[in-house]
Amino acid sequence: MLTVTESLTVRDNRTGVEYDIPITDGTIRAADLGKIKAADPATSEEGPGLAVYDPGFVNTASCRSSVTYIDGDKGVLEYRGYPIEQLAEKSSFLEVSYLLVHGALPTKEEYDAWVHEITFHTFVHENIKEFMQGFRYDAHPMGMLMASVGAMSTFYPDAANISDPDNRRLQIIRLIAKMPTLGAWAFRHAQGKPYVYPDNDLSYTGNFLSMLFKMSESKYAPDERIVKALDTLFILHADHEQNASANAVRSVGSTQVDPYSSVAAGVGALFGPLHGGANEAVLRMLRRIGKVENIPAFIEGVKAGNERLMGFGHRVYKNYDPRATIIKQQALNVFEVTGTNPLLNIAMELEKIALEDEYFVSRKLYPNVDFYSGLIYEALEFPPEMFTVLFAIGRTPGWLSQWLELVQDKEQKIARPKQIYTGERGLTFVPRDVRWA
Ligand SMILES: CC(C)(COP(=O)(O)OP(=O)(O)OC[C@H]1O[C@@H](n2cnc3c(N)ncnc32)[C@H](O)[C@@H]1OP(=O)(O)O)[C@@H](O)C(=O)NCCC(=O)NCCS
Repeated sequence: MLTVTESLTVRDNRTGVEYDIPITDGTIRAADLGKIKAADPATSEEGPGLAVYDPGFVNTASCRSSVTYIDGDKGVLEYRGYPIEQLAEKSSFLEVSYLLVHGALPTKEEYDAWVHEITFHTFVHENIKEFMQGFRYDAHPMGMLMASVGAMSTFYPDAANISDPDNRRLQIIRLIAKMPTLGAWAFRHAQGKPYVYPDNDLSYTGNFLSMLFKMSESKYAPDERIVKALDTLFILHADHEQNASANAVRSVGSTQVDPYSSVAAGVGALFGPLHGGANEAVLRMLRRIGKVENIPAFIEGVKAGNERLMGFGHRVYKNYDPRATIIKQQALNVFEVTGTNPLLNIAMELEKIALEDEYFVSRKLYPNVDFYSGLIYEALEFPPEMFTVLFAIGRTPGWLSQWLELVQDKEQKIARPKQIYTGERGLTFVPRDVRWA
């Protein structure tokens, strides 16, 4: 019988020495490459071990994780083993949050306790409100969110005790509970409207809508179809394995700082246009196209390399992003309530043409999560700056699940990459008075 040896034999042509490097789970340990050494030709001294150079971590696994599974070629996304399609259809954001954080679905008692705890941690200290009110009238809500999440570490100094499981759980509940409050207040701030306190009679997402849109009525009654659509969008954004913001949370968390500081780093990473901002670009593109008749000319421009079809293509998915299918359905549901957005017709026609066009087919370019989400957010009357805040609220349980996994992982160390030094060496410093004389 053929035996497969799970190892890699490497011959260092500088020395002629061969090394056997074990392969585990389709990876080799970069530290094993560090054993491959050769003399520095300049000094004849033994040089440092071989390292891998991987800007952007495109082929480097930074952790073992059991939170989220993605198969980009097949268009599969699973949280803790459950397909995203089933969770989006049959679960709720708080149940999915429980699943992500705990690794298993809750019993009825566990679910009720979880919802109760999150509901009763939605209020924030009044000083956080004053802190947020101190921002300029036109402050970007993501900047406000990032700063106020970071500021929460000063209100909960106990959060620094990250080795205590009960303490970790409390901070996780606080963060999931308070993110909508902070996000909604950042939204009200830009509008010059008074901040609305949480209404704990409402569901998680219903309460968020109340804090966003309540005016003089004594009680806000959210439309359940809108609640379902937004809740589903939160589920779709809840985690996406080692994306840039999860990596930021893990990297900062690896210093053993409190989770508020780590999640603030995640919000900062998400703020960047390469990560959280693509749906805004999709809206701009659809507006520019303006009408269905202009689509063929636009597609020709994309194929000629003049611009990109925003909301298409993904680094990981080389198939239909499973989240895009679900979002498209939710967009149709939302438009039933809000009335149709003419941009939807342009989006659907654009998608139809692109999916049949050889340029997009051969490059495996399919709609991604951002293709329809901006349309929903716009229909709900969110300004584009708020889109990423909604993403951040949805992503919070994912960041916290990644953080929790990190702090319990004995193999993890402080995240501290190597570099290839390209600068000067051994210069002699000449003081200013001599240099400038
Ligand atoms: C997401 C994205 C950055 C992934 O990029 P990537 O994995 O590095 O893929 P590449 O940029 O190498 O693209 C591969 C090929 O497809 C083309 N391509 C990729 N995305 C494209 C798009 N949206 N429109 C037109 N062509 C696109 C590239 O021009 C390239 O073609 P070439 O081989 O002829 O040069 C890219 O698809 C993109 O810019 N999409 C639009 C922005 C967007 O929707 N982002 C949200 C992601 S969730």
